[in-house]
Amino acid sequence: MEDKSLKNQVAIVTGGGSGIGKKIALKLIDKGAVVLVNDINEDLIDAFKSETKEKSLYFSCGDITSEEYRKELTSGALEKFGRLDILVNNVGIGSGKEFLEMELKDLEKSVKTNLIAPFFLSQEAAKIMIEKKIKGTIIFISSIHGKIPSGNADYSSTKSAVIMTVKELAYDLGKYGIRVNGIAPGRITEKKVEDPRIPLNMQTGAPEDIADTVAFLSNITLSGYITGETITVDGGLSLQFER
Ligand SMILES: NC(=O)c1ccc[n+]([C@@H]2O[C@H](COP(=O)([O-])OP(=O)(O)OC[C@H]3O[C@@H](n4cnc5c(N)ncnc54)[C@H](O)[C@@H]3O)[C@@H](O)[C@H]2O)c1
Repeated sequence: MEDKSLKNQVAIVTGGGSGIGKKIALKLIDKGAVVLVNDINEDLIDAFKSETKEKSLYFSCGDITSEEYRKELTSGALEKFGRLDILVNNVGIGSGKEFLEMELKDLEKSVKTNLIAPFFLSQEAAKIMIEKKIKGTIIFISSIHGKIPSGNADYSSTKSAVIMTVKELAYDLGKYGIRVNGIAPGRITEKKVEDPRIPLNMQTGAPEDIADTVAFLSNITLSGYITGETITVDGGLSLQFER
């Protein structure tokens, strides 16, 4: 039977022009939601537009590190759709540099993109949900490297901060019925490939695995009592650090 559990709900997905975010957007559409996809890259948005005839899919090109743009994104959703139920903070970057090579601007960029932008975008979204009395949901995409090191200090430090942000916002917004959760993906590849480090079938995860978890966390019937939690979705990759 078709699952349209998110019918009449409006979602924003940041960084939805490619990779995991794109799959999340398509999954939410599949569950019946109207989705506003953000991405900084116009070419990715144009490519996504040309691939789909989906009527519930809308696009907004912009940089989520801009305060002005964040307000435009959320108020635009409110003006066009009259509500906002789901925010998926998916954008995440890393400098790829080792600690001793890193410059202040590298760390500043990661902090702005991975922490400050989703922090304040969530604030904008929460204000709308509270004003409209919507028991919405906010989801942050962190990483297993928010829990274990990666050799990329700016990335791991900010992803770790995201896990605590999830707890803090869940605490503050709980009284409004707004749930805030996170997902910590392991190694995700466009198609599953073999990886002997991964306990579960020795296979990497696919964007679909993360999109399914977003759908679960967005569905109040299935996950309505879960808040402040970051779910690891890594096929057991991080378990080796717990042994
Ligand atoms: N791929 C993995 O293996 C993996 C593992 C753990 C966590 N994650 C996390 O999952 C999320 C998605 O990862 P991905 O691999 O699909 O990333 P990606 O790089 O493929 O996609 C990110 C998208 O965000 C967009 N973007 C970047 N900066 C932006 C900005 N300032 N404003 C708006 N859009 C911006 C990019 O154009 C891109 O389309 C990230 O938060 C990442 O850290 C990914």
